[in-house]
Amino acid sequence: MSTQKKVSLKVATMDDSEFVYSIMTSKEYKQYFPLNLIATNLEDQKRKLRHLIAQMQNGNGAYFIILFGKEKVGILDLYKIDRKNKRAAIGYGLDKNYWGKGIATTALKKALLYAKEKEKIHALSAYVHPKNTASQKVLKKSGFKKVGTLKDYDFENGKYKDQALYWKIL
Ligand SMILES: CC(C)(COP(=O)(O)OP(=O)(O)OC[C@H]1O[C@@H](n2cnc3c(N)ncnc32)[C@H](O)[C@@H]1OP(=O)(O)O)[C@@H](O)C(=O)NCCC(=O)NCCS
Repeated sequence: MSTQKKVSLKVATMDDSEFVYSIMTSKEYKQYFPLNLIATNLEDQKRKLRHLIAQMQNGNGAYFIILFGKEKVGILDLYKIDRKNKRAAIGYGLDKNYWGKGIATTALKKALLYAKEKEKIHALSAYVHPKNTASQKVLKKSGFKKVGTLKDYDFENGKYKDQALYWKIL
């Protein structure tokens, strides 16, 4: 079966806590994420996920597990949903064992359709670590344009860190 057909998005539930915790705390994954998004232990992960699921139920976000066939391989979310201006931000990531197969690009394609058709979103932003070449490639392949670099966007461990901002009109 092609990657296109094998990749799907399922709405996250609390049963996904351990999976989300295991991928987000892997060394390769968390290097590019702001520390406040990474859970400190499984209980903290459950708290974070409960909050994200509640936000989704209130129409303020969407949190998906990326499936490859029946396997859970990644996460993808819409956040910062602004209904008045019809815009949102998108984030995603995969278990490193599944990198390099086109899965993120395919998952993003499905999420763009969902955002446009189900959530009526007009514009999407993505914030990326400037050295995260793979993610920037995924965004460019999906029609996002780099707006610029947000200098000193995050303040972590006593240091400011930049983020690249990408934008796409759906
Ligand atoms: C970013 C990420 C989601 C990409 O997932 P993926 O399924 O491997 O992405 P794809 O296979 O769809 O595309 C990746 C592209 O980047 C390229 N790539 C990967 N690593 C690269 C690197 N270090 N330098 C240059 N290009 C690279 C791949 O060759 C591929 O390009 P191609 O289609 O022209 O061959 C994955 O690496 C990941 O989960 N990283 C950790 C979490 C993360 O960074 N999330 C994004 C936060 S904004």
